[in-house]
Amino acid sequence: MIVNTELENKGNLFPSNIIDFKKDVDKLYFTAANDVILELTVVRDSLLRFRYTTVGNFDNDFSYAITKYASIGYNKLEIEEKKEYFEITTSKLRCEISKDDMRVSIYDAKDGTLINQDESGFHWEESYEYGGNIVKMSKASNDGESYYGLGDKPNHLNLKGKRYSNWATDSYAYGKDTDPLYKAIPFYTGLHHGKAYGIFFDNTFKSSFDFAQERRNVTSFWAQGGEMNYYFFYGPKMNDVVESYTDLTGKPHHLPPLWALGFHQCKWSYYPESKVKEITSTFRKLKIPCDAIYLDIDYMEGFRCFTWNKEYFPDPKRMVKELLDDGFKTVAIIDPGIKIDKEYSVFKEALEKDYFCKRADGDYMKGKVWPGECYFPDFTNPEVRDWWSGLFKELIEDIGVKGVWNDMNEPAVMEVPNKTFPDDVRHDYDGNPCSHRKAHNIYGMQMARATYQGLKKYSYPKRPFVITRSAYSGTQRYTSTWTGDNVATWEHLWIANIQAQRMAMSGFSFAGSDIGGFAEQPQGELFTRWIQLGIFHPFFRVHSSGDHGDQEPWAFDEDVTDIVRKFIEIRYQILPYLYTAFWNYVDHGTPLLKSLVLYDQEDVQTHYRTDEFIFGEQILACPVLEPNAKGRRMYIPKGNWYNFWTNEIVKGGKEMWVDADIDSMPIFVKEGAIIPKYPIQQYVGEKDITEITLDVYYKEGKEESELYSDANDGFDYTKGRYSLRNFSLRGKANELIINQYKEGKYITTYETFNIQFHGLPFDIVEVQLDNEKIEHKSLKVNDITSIVVHKNFSELHIIGEKS
Ligand code: GLC
Repeated sequence: MIVNTELENKGNLFPSNIIDFKKDVDKLYFTAANDVILELTVVRDSLLRFRYTTVGNFDNDFSYAITKYASIGYNKLEIEEKKEYFEITTSKLRCEISKDDMRVSIYDAKDGTLINQDESGFHWEESYEYGGNIVKMSKASNDGESYYGLGDKPNHLNLKGKRYSNWATDSYAYGKDTDPLYKAIPFYTGLHHGKAYGIFFDNTFKSSFDFAQERRNVTSFWAQGGEMNYYFFYGPKMNDVVESYTDLTGKPHHLPPLWALGFHQCKWSYYPESKVKEITSTFRKLKIPCDAIYLDIDYMEGFRCFTWNKEYFPDPKRMVKELLDDGFKTVAIIDPGIKIDKEYSVFKEALEKDYFCKRADGDYMKGKVWPGECYFPDFTNPEVRDWWSGLFKELIEDIGVKGVWNDMNEPAVMEVPNKTFPDDVRHDYDGNPCSHRKAHNIYGMQMARATYQGLKKYSYPKRPFVITRSAYSGTQRYTSTWTGDNVATWEHLWIANIQAQRMAMSGFSFAGSDIGGFAEQPQGELFTRWIQLGIFHPFFRVHSSGDHGDQEPWAFDEDVTDIVRKFIEIRYQILPYLYTAFWNYVDHGTPLLKSLVLYDQEDVQTHYRTDEFIFGEQILACPVLEPNAKGRRMYIPKGNWYNFWTNEIVKGGKEMWVDADIDSMPIFVKEGAIIPKYPIQQYVGEKDITEITLDVYYKEGKEESELYSDANDGFDYTKGRYSLRNFSLRGKANELIINQYKEGKYITTYETFNIQFHGLPFDIVEVQLDNEKIEHKSLKVNDITSIVVHKNFSELHIIGEKS
C-alpha cells in the first residue's frame, strides 16, 4: 500500500481575500482569490442564508427541509463597501463580511449588539476517501452563552459543553449519553445577553456540533460532505427564532384529527383479534378514555407490509369497523423493508419497476429486518413515493385503518455493525443522484412523506395521521413522532421530558415517548408518574415491547388504575385548550411546549432549568421524577400562578417545594388565563358537546386567551369554517370584564359557556351581558363561582363587592 499522508490529509483550508462582489436581487456573491464563493441570501430581514463553494460554482440548489410555503421578503437591504469589509443592512440585522478572510459578524441593526461572529469561520478539509470536502464552520462562543435545540438528544436541555452528531440511528434501549439517536435535526438556538438567534445547518450528510466543548470559546459545526449551507435566524426572542425556523422548514400541513390528541394504547403486539377486543373493551368497562389502538408487526403475514395474518385477523375490515363503532381508531405499523419473496405482490411490483435501492456496483441493497432478508424502496425517488402512497388504498380506504406508524426508517438493518445501509448505496434524491452518505438522514423523512401522501389521499375527506421514528428537519410537515425504544426507568422519565421539550424547540412539537418505557417493565409508581407527564405531551401513547409484561392502565394495582384514569380524564377535559395551542402551532409555528428558557429568556434562572415547562401558553407543569416522592422542588417562572389543585396563588420568580403525592403532580395556571374544557368523554366524539367550561383565573390586570374550534376533522376549516374566540380579561379590585372577539364561519356545536371563576376576590352582586343587566344564577361551590352564558357574548361584566 502506498501511504501518502500529505495527499490524504492536507489539513484545514481557508478562503483567501475577497476579489469580487456581485448582487443578484436578494443574493450577494463574494468571491475569494482561491475560488471560494460565499452566496449570501437575504431571505427576510431577520433571516440570512450563507452558502459556500470551494470550486468556483455551486451544485444544484435542492433541499428536502425547506418548504415552498416559507415566507420570504424583506423591508430593507443596503449594501456598502467599506475599507475592510462589506456591510449588509436589513431592518433587523447588520452583517459584516471581512474582505481579508470572508469572516462574518452579525449585529442587531437597532442597538448594535454583536449577536454572532465567526471564529475561524468557514473552512474545509478535502475528503481523499469520498471526494468533495468535509465542510466546517466555527463561531465564537461567549461566557454565559447557552445553546438549545438539536431534536431528540437525550441529555440536558442546555447543550453548552457538549458535542453531538446527527446520523439517524436505531438505538434500542439508549441512555442519557447515547448519540446519535433516531433523528437528525441540525438546528440550534443560541442565547447570549438576553438575545436569541438560531442556526440551521441544512446539510444531510453526517453532521456534528460542538458547543464550546473542545475549546471553551468556540462553537463549531461540520459535515462529512456536501456544502457549508446554513441559515441564520435572529429573534431576539427565542420563541421568534423557533417560529421562524418552523416557518422555513414547514409547519404541519394540517391540524391532526382531534382524536389523535386523545390517548393511544399500543404494544408489540396485540394479537389475535380477540386480544385486541379484550383490550379495547377493558378500556370501556373501566371507563378509561382511549381513542386509538395499535397493531404492531404481528398483524402482518410474515411481517410483509400491506398484508394481514388471516389466522389472527380473519376479517380486518369488520374488526376495524367494530373497533370504530366503539370509538377506537386503528393504527397499523408499516416498515420500509420489503421481504424478498417472489410470491409477494409488493415485492414483485417494486422489483419489476426497479424501485429498490441498489449498491454502487448495481446489486440490490439487501438487509435483514423483521421479515428476514429485505430490499428497500428508494423513497428519495418521487415515482417510488407515488407508488408507495398508492399501496395504502386498501388499508385505509377499504379496511378503514385511520393512522399509519412508520418504524425502522433510519433505515435500520439488523446484524450489521453500522445498523444501517453501507455508504455506497445509491439514491435518486429527487433527481440529484447520490450515495447513502447524503441520503441517509432523509430516508425516514421521505418514507413518512410518501406514507402521508397515501393517507391524505385515501383518508379524504378526513385528515391523515402518521407517526414516524426517524426524521430530518421539516418532517413535522407530514407526521407526528415518538422518541423510539426507551427503557422503563426513572432516568428515562427524565429523558422523555427533555426530549419532548427539545423536539418542540426544534420545530417538531407533535412528539411523545413510549409511556412507561418500551424495554423492561415499570413499577406502578413509575407508570403513574409517566402518565402524568404524558398528558402534557402532544403525542400521548403507551407502548411497550411486550417481553416484560403488560402495560395497560389496569396492569398494576387498582390505585394506579384510578390515578391513571383521573389524569387521562384531565387530558380529555383540556382537549380544546390543546387543540387551540395546536392551531397556533400549525398557523404560526408556535411550539406546543415551552421550556422555561423559551418562556422567559430574560430571567437567567431559566437558562439551566430542565424539568418545568409551559404546556400551550398558560399551563405550567413539572413531572415528579423520583420514586417515593410526596412532592418536589421546582422553579415557578415570574408572575402569579394558581395551583391547579388548590387554587392557591403563588408568586413566581423563585424555587419552591410543591406537594404532589402519587395522585397529584405540580400543575399551575397563569393568572388571568381562561382555560376551555370539555366534559370527560371516553373518546373524542362520544358526546355532543353543547357546553364548554371556561375556567377563568382572576387577575388584577390584563390577560389574553383564545379558543379555537372546528369540526375536529376534515378540511373545511381551511376554507374559513373555524371559530376563533379571543378573550381579553381585565380584572380590578371589585370587577372583572371579559371581552370576546370572534372570527371564522364555523357554527360550533356548543351554545353556552359555563364560566367558572377561580380566585374571585369578591362576591358577585351584578352581571352585565353586552351592557344589559341579567338575572344570573351564580352557584358557589368550594370557592368557585360559576355562571352560564350564551357563547356569543361580546362583553361580560362582573361587578362585585368585598365579602
Ligand atoms: C421497533 C420500534 C418499536 C416496535 C418494534 C416492533 O423496536 O421502535 O416501537 O414495537 O420495532 O415493531
